[in-house]
Amino acid sequence: MRPKISIIGAGMVGAQAAYVAAGKELGDIVLVDVVEGVPQGKGLDLYEATPLFDVDVNVIGSNDYASIKGSDVVIVTAGVPRKSGMSRDELLSINAKIVSDISKQIVTYAPKCILIIVTNPLDAMVYVAKKVTKFPRERVFGMAGVLDSTRFRTFIADELKVSVEDVTAFVLGGHGDTMVPLARYSTVAGIPITELIPKNRLDQIIDRVRNGGGEIVNLLKTGSAFYAPGAAVIEMAEAVLKDKKRVLPCSVFLEGEYGVKELPIGVPVKLGAKGMEQVMEITLNAEEKKLFQKTVDAVKNLIHDTDKIM
Ligand code: APR
Repeated sequence: MRPKISIIGAGMVGAQAAYVAAGKELGDIVLVDVVEGVPQGKGLDLYEATPLFDVDVNVIGSNDYASIKGSDVVIVTAGVPRKSGMSRDELLSINAKIVSDISKQIVTYAPKCILIIVTNPLDAMVYVAKKVTKFPRERVFGMAGVLDSTRFRTFIADELKVSVEDVTAFVLGGHGDTMVPLARYSTVAGIPITELIPKNRLDQIIDRVRNGGGEIVNLLKTGSAFYAPGAAVIEMAEAVLKDKKRVLPCSVFLEGEYGVKELPIGVPVKLGAKGMEQVMEITLNAEEKKLFQKTVDAVKNLIHDTDKIM
């Protein structure tokens, strides 16, 4: 039997995630959305493309949560996307309600799944999903760092005119303007980028990474990024479904690591068949600690606001 991946929210990010998952032949895919016809139409269209990818997977769309039954991985992209001029945090109350309702359905129909949240504001939505599902932290976490570090990799490769394949990049913290791109731990074939890019230029690149989501929103005007976010969440799903033990930055509940408790925050973790299998702690220097504290404080405020509306 093939693995089963359900994607809740068949909008721009959900459809792109389905497309990437199908192309990688990761498993059968179920798209669920509230809008009648949209998940069914997108699902059928993607299913009809599978011969072109030479893959054997089933893709269906549905408005009924019963169809996610027995899913190995559930990805939540449902919600309202950020519009131009709107901050992620402004999305909070609308999307908290949506993610809370969906989480209840997941508990009913896919209680054993590994749940990956994509809906923004990300860290707050991970908090909502964890609180409602009561899943252990190993089975509920969020996609943010993979996207942010991918953007960082793209900009580094572009700056140095080297292959993206040779660039690794690290981003810590909340998914927002306070995220901490870690230049010291970002390398080109093992060479720290601090050796290759002058500090003032690096600061500009880091700034661009922090505002990466906003840059796309400003260009699109009517929606937010979807190609990279959709592909990024499938990188995580693939690590789980293939038990790859990949080390990727994800938003997970910390239980004392990095001096943080009971708060979802982006840190490097090991992803495998059991989900989030290990939090990897790294040493931060004084400057990085300061920035990390700032992002922790920002997430704390976000969670405080979330608690008020839940
Ligand atoms: N249940 C299921 N689907 C829902 C629900 C719900 N309760 N509420 C909304 N949706 C669906 C919408 O019908 C829509 O198809 O979620 C989908 C969201 O898709 P888009 O509006 O295209 O938004 P998208 O760009 O995909 O972004 C989704 O991902 O990256 C984040 O910030 C982004 O929070 C946003 C989310």
